[in-house]
Amino acid sequence: MTRPRILVLGTGGTIAGAAGSATGGGYRAGGLPLAAVLEQLAALGLDAQLAAQEIARIGSQDIGWKEWQALHAACAGAMDDPQIDGIIITHGTDTAEETAFLLDLTLPAHKPVVLVGAMRPADAVGADGMRNFANAVKVASDGEAAGRGVMLVMGDNVLAARDARKAATASVDAFRSFPRGPLARVTPASLDWFGPPHRPGEGARYRFPEGLPRVAILTAGAGMDEQPVEALLGIGAKGIVLAGMGQGNAPASVLAALARAAAGGVPVVRATRVDEGLVDRNVEVDDDALGLVAARALGPAKARVLLMVLIASGITDPAQVQAAFDRG
Ligand code: SIN
Repeated sequence: MTRPRILVLGTGGTIAGAAGSATGGGYRAGGLPLAAVLEQLAALGLDAQLAAQEIARIGSQDIGWKEWQALHAACAGAMDDPQIDGIIITHGTDTAEETAFLLDLTLPAHKPVVLVGAMRPADAVGADGMRNFANAVKVASDGEAAGRGVMLVMGDNVLAARDARKAATASVDAFRSFPRGPLARVTPASLDWFGPPHRPGEGARYRFPEGLPRVAILTAGAGMDEQPVEALLGIGAKGIVLAGMGQGNAPASVLAALARAAAGGVPVVRATRVDEGLVDRNVEVDDDALGLVAARALGPAKARVLLMVLIASGITDPAQVQAAFDRG
């Protein structure tokens, strides 16, 4: 039997980070070349053929359209290549949910794409990267992984891109899956899916954007006024995501300014600064009257990604934007 053929796309992050000391605190994300990471992996005796392509060697805080475009092109090519069975992307954890969701929105689902990272650098005591990578290989090689869109493998869990969220700054168990739980539990020796694929036979939902429209996240705080909204409009924001209080709320003067922005053709999505929970329409805030959109289950970072994709596709009408957020 031929071993599964996996394309590994490297971008950097802590999984490719070295501290130079097993017990030191500081390190540089993306310091190690992908070849060095793969050399360590070869020693694991993984049951797959790995082909490597380095897209970047950066901390994921610096990822942007250029790297996303290169990742999208490489994934799209691999999707059409009969020699490739699955794709793994090594990635920093800080923005893994954004990259995963952007690719999930813009790629077809017929081959698995698995993002994997680490919370501890490769040479730290108790490093988690090699285990996470071995788990990612298990997932990307699995016959039942197709039709589930882009996934994130961390801490022995497989999370759907739409649900994954970084919820801890340093714990190896840093990711949560909201509102649906994990898709599967994985170890280097076992993989248990909890349900059937949720995107069987689905094509790409949106075209990959030609560029990124300026969409800002505005975090609400007690006592703030409307000036940050005016400032965002002043620098040409094409969309605004409110990381609001509770169910996506903000002081009255801020909501009024956001309503003016929406009336002027700048779509405004209300998400929440709270760790978890839905933001529904017309609960505390009258979205119908103010022309605003409720983010539903998407947190501010992923709401921004979806809004950028929608605006780049020419979708700015609040009802159409709301329909896209309802779909999640
Ligand atoms: C990064 O996101 O590149 C740094 C943090 C990490 O990978 O965990």
